[in-house]
Amino acid sequence: MEMKIGVIKGDGIGPEIVDEAVKVLNKIAEVYGHSFSYTQLLMGGASIDANGVPLTDETLQAAKECGAVLMGSIGGDAKTSPWYKLEPSRRPEAGLLALRKGLNLFANLRPAVLYEELKGACPLKEEIADRGFDMMIMRELTGGLYFGKRSTQEEDGVLTARDELAYNENEIRRIAKRGFDIAMKRRKKVTSVDKANVLDSSRLWRKVVEETAKDYPEVALEHMLVDNCAMQLVKDPAQFDVILTENMFGDILSDEASMVTGSIGMLASASLNETKFGLYEPSGGSAPDIAGKGIANPIATILSAAMMLRYSFDLDREAQAVETAVEKTLRDGYRTADIMSEGKTQVGTKEIGDRICSYIV
Ligand code: IPM
Ligand code: MN
Repeated sequence: MEMKIGVIKGDGIGPEIVDEAVKVLNKIAEVYGHSFSYTQLLMGGASIDANGVPLTDETLQAAKECGAVLMGSIGGDAKTSPWYKLEPSRRPEAGLLALRKGLNLFANLRPAVLYEELKGACPLKEEIADRGFDMMIMRELTGGLYFGKRSTQEEDGVLTARDELAYNENEIRRIAKRGFDIAMKRRKKVTSVDKANVLDSSRLWRKVVEETAKDYPEVALEHMLVDNCAMQLVKDPAQFDVILTENMFGDILSDEASMVTGSIGMLASASLNETKFGLYEPSGGSAPDIAGKGIANPIATILSAAMMLRYSFDLDREAQAVETAVEKTLRDGYRTADIMSEGKTQVGTKEIGDRICSYIV
């Protein structure tokens, strides 16, 4: 199979972790007889430095011409980087939001799995960690507070800021359908998370999710308030299969879920639209404090590349091969600094990438 992959290395640790994922993809191509070509795309801080804006129209267009885009991470240190002296619409993050919107990537999938080998890194009590967990957070990605009207102005002499949270029924229905579709391939349970005891947007969310559920009689649906969900994630994460939620709640809950897996360096993600196209990126940030040191954990990016093989290219066997190679590497005791524990072998970014490749045969 021939595939054109867009690559956004990004800022901070982005280039280092993307290099390892590309190494793994090349190994897959070699072993399974595919041909992947790569188009480098600039977004975030790197694009600000080169073009003055975090995303150009040309880059957006070039991304659309690829079968999928693999991304590292963007942004810098908000205190020291000159990028954060720019107005908000010109900062690195604005490029990511424009890319999500421009490609209509409304469905964000963030799997949070506690690997058997990493149970020791899980910060939860042993009896909770022992039960393990395997959940998929489905976050709506192109609506809600992130894309509503904003303003900051003086009103009657008082500085007042506003951010609008709006969802229409169509936006809710399409992400809900995706959530139920994914649940059908998993353990057939959806927990829809909202704040329906306070917000109108959540009440509409709940109504549309309930309507959608009628088409999926095999899936068990429950509703959970977001504050309770935040608590349940640390109390009993094993109860979750698919968590379906709006943009802002999903942002917050997915960071929490990542932390209970042991490290945010393990969490992959896929952002999908109505077609096979997807943007694949680790859930973690650009970690400027460790950039260039060769110690960053590339596993989340490698697992994101596996999601790309599965969701954009329908290469399930190849995706599984990458995931198995990651598990074997962990089982053999190799760890980057963030997931290091006693008795294991600490290695750098490149070495762990090499180890993973060596298991793809
Ligand atoms: C994420 C990030 C982004 C978000 C930021 C960088 C805008 O935190 O992908 O979760 O809030 O969506
Ligand atoms: Mn986030």
